[in-house]
Amino acid sequence: MLDSSLEFLKCVNCSSKLELNAFKHEKEIVEGILECTKCSKQFPIIDKIPILWGDFSLYLSSRKKLSGQLYQLIENSNLRKFYKISLSKIKQFSDDRTDIEERWSLIYQNSKSAKFYTEIKKNIHSIKKSNFVLEYGCSIGIMSSFLAESHQMVFGIDRSFTALRYAKKVHKNNLDYVVADFMSPVFGKLQFDLILALNVLELTEPIELLNHISEQITNGYFIISDPYDFDRGTQSVKKPLDEISLRQNLKNLKFKITSKTKIPSHIIWTLKLNPRAVLNYQVDLVIGKK
Ligand SMILES: C[S@@+](CC[C@H](N)C(=O)[O-])C[C@H]1O[C@@H](n2cnc3c(N)ncnc32)[C@H](O)[C@@H]1O
Ligand SMILES: [Zn+2]
Repeated sequence: MLDSSLEFLKCVNCSSKLELNAFKHEKEIVEGILECTKCSKQFPIIDKIPILWGDFSLYLSSRKKLSGQLYQLIENSNLRKFYKISLSKIKQFSDDRTDIEERWSLIYQNSKSAKFYTEIKKNIHSIKKSNFVLEYGCSIGIMSSFLAESHQMVFGIDRSFTALRYAKKVHKNNLDYVVADFMSPVFGKLQFDLILALNVLELTEPIELLNHISEQITNGYFIISDPYDFDRGTQSVKKPLDEISLRQNLKNLKFKITSKTKIPSHIIWTLKLNPRAVLNYQVDLVIGKK
């Protein structure tokens, strides 16, 4: 975690300021604990990545394999103590997400030169230099790291620690990543000039996501793309959107849709699942401005 990020990150429990206790510092904070100045909740920084999860034990309980990997990584005794206490609070391990998060991190790694990203980058080119940029569900940081080349400060949020370990391989002084649920108040009331949410609409209630993002933009751009692949069995959201209702909801939130993205698009997004299989989506891109 960059030292400079402390100013912007907030307690996901109560949105208050965080205090940092850094245990290992190189170019950035490698190990430490962030503590809320109001509710005293503590959040670990492990391998340069802050984990701002409301209940850290719960986070670990659905990632048994990762829990072991993190334990091996921690060097500092204070952090190790905190970690052991968190482990001891786990009541029951649920389905382990580690393998699936590792698998998808690799799929994104193998698909990072997909034309889809080139197309999105082309569309972003015309957006003027922003002070604060945020990417929801940034995964291995393909877009966040690109955005950091031309914008002042870029943050990426993802719930996958494994994906962010890949993302953190690229170090930039204006680029940082946080493990968090993107619906939690990671940045309190901070307003962004540009927010990206690519292909995440299926993973949370879409309208709630749009409302949440809208509250973080007073004067800026919102770039959203999606293949509207909402059929996910028991995991499906209650109110899916389509190309028309997405645009309508954005207008209701006072976003003006750019002329280029008023008409739905079908940008090809090819994900290389393995050497013998690819997943081909046709993604719609919408850019809104307030
Ligand atoms: C379909 S992938 C899209 C990745 C990237 N935006 C792209 O288009 O290449 C969705 C990503 O969102 C993350 N994600 C899903 N739900 C999340 C949540 N509630 N909070 C934070 N990240 C989440 C996943 O871990 C995954 O990396
Ligand atoms: Zn708090």
